[in-house]
Amino acid sequence: ASVLVLNGPNLNMLGVREPHIYGSMTLDDLEGACQERAEQLGLAIDFRQSNHEGELVSWIQQARTEHDGIVINAGAYSHTSVAIMDSLILSELPIVEVHLSNIYKREAIRHHSHISAVAKGMICGFGPHGYLLALDAMANILERD
Ligand code: DQA
Repeated sequence: ASVLVLNGPNLNMLGVREPHIYGSMTLDDLEGACQERAEQLGLAIDFRQSNHEGELVSWIQQARTEHDGIVINAGAYSHTSVAIMDSLILSELPIVEVHLSNIYKREAIRHHSHISAVAKGMICGFGPHGYLLALDAMANILERD
């Protein structure tokens, strides 16, 4: 099975960006860790990042026919983007939402996510390890369904 692992705005700055919140791992490091876990799980992953809402929407639309599931950290768009939510719905794919930080421990504007309404489940607060948990969950969903 093939899984799109999608990263939204500012996640290209991991390692540099507020390391007290997001840690010191870079996006490249994170991709490497995900590739390793995916291999163990027998999944192929396509790991991508964009700062542009429309590009994320286009990738999600393409995933409809190219992938079997989507793991997504939409960054700040999680809290604002009805367009990304709509594209996730039309993909008709299982969605696992992930956030590095515990969004419920932070400012109130981060407490609501449009992604959660359309996701099978959400993992947050465990840093980069959350992506590995998300891949585990996705492998389980794809085996089960
Ligand atoms: C984030 C949390 C969001 O609130 C924030 O805008 C991000 C990263 C996380 O992974 O913790 O960009 O999605």
